[in-house]
Amino acid sequence: MATKVTAPSILARKGGSKIKMVTAYDTPTTRIADRAGADIILVGDSVANVVLGYDDTLAVTVDVMIHHIAAVTRATPNALVVGDMPWLSYHTSEQETIRNAGRFIQEGGAGAVKLEGGRKRLPMVAAVLSAEIPVMGHIGLTPQSVHTMGGYRVQGRDAHAAYELISDAHALADAGVFALVLEGVPDVVAEIITEGISVPTIGIGAGVKCDGQVLVFHDVTGLGSGESLPKFVKQYAQLQDDAVAALEAFFADVESGAFPSEAHTYHMPPESEAILRNLSRDADYLMADEAMEQ
Ligand code: KIV
Repeated sequence: MATKVTAPSILARKGGSKIKMVTAYDTPTTRIADRAGADIILVGDSVANVVLGYDDTLAVTVDVMIHHIAAVTRATPNALVVGDMPWLSYHTSEQETIRNAGRFIQEGGAGAVKLEGGRKRLPMVAAVLSAEIPVMGHIGLTPQSVHTMGGYRVQGRDAHAAYELISDAHALADAGVFALVLEGVPDVVAEIITEGISVPTIGIGAGVKCDGQVLVFHDVTGLGSGESLPKFVKQYAQLQDDAVAALEAFFADVESGAFPSEAHTYHMPPESEAILRNLSRDADYLMADEAMEQ
C-alpha cells in the first residue's frame, strides 16, 4: 500500500516529480481521484459553482465546506486532503481564522487548508500555521476576489502587477506555506516564481513550468455543466454524455419492459409461493363474501 501523502512530503517534492492535484467534493469522486494517483485532493470552494449551482464561490460557508471535506476524508484516500477556506472564514480576525481552520481538521479530517491572497493575508496565514495546521497559498486569479477583479481575469499581465505577484509568492513562502497555487497568470510569471521560491508551485492556467498542476474534477472528466470552459482546461472524457446515454438506455428498458430481467429479480422458494397464492385467492373470496353481506 502506498504511503499517505502529507504536507511535508509535498514540500519535499520541490523541483522533483510533478505534483498532481485535482478537486473532489464527495466520496465516489475521491475514490476515483485516489485510484488514478492524485497526490493532493482539494475540496475546493468551487463546490459552490461546480456542484451546488451557485454563480460563484462566495456563497459557501464553513459548515458546507466541512460537510464536503468529511465526505472526501471518509473515502480514506492516500492523497493529502486540503480543505479550501471559504470567503469570510479568514478575513475578520486571527482567532476566528484559527477556529475555522481547526474545524476543517477536527470535524472534516483534512490534512491542510488553503486560503487565497498574498501579503494582505499574511497575518492569517501565520495564525493558522501557529496552530500547527499546514497552509497552501493561492495567488493570481483568486475567485473569491471576483468583484474587486471585475470578473475572472488573468492576473499579472503587466510588469508591475507581475512584480506584485512575485513579491506575494516570496512572502507566502517565507511565512511557511507548504505549496502555492498559481491561478490564471502568464507562464513567465509562474516560471519566475517557481524558480525563485523554495516551495512547490501548483498551476492552474499558469503554464507548464510549475511544480505541479491542478484542475477541477468535473472539468477534466466532462461531468460538468457543459458550459464553455476556461482556456486552461483540458477535458479528457465526456462523462456527462456517457451518463445521459446510460439513463436513456435505462428509461427505454423501463418503457419496453426489458428491465428488470430475470437477472435483476428476487424469487420466493416455490413452496412459499404456492402457499401465498392460495392464501391470496382465499382472501379474495373472503373479501367478496364480506362485500355481498353489506
Ligand atoms: O476551489 C477550487 O477549485 C480551487 C482551485 C481549482 C485551485 O481553488
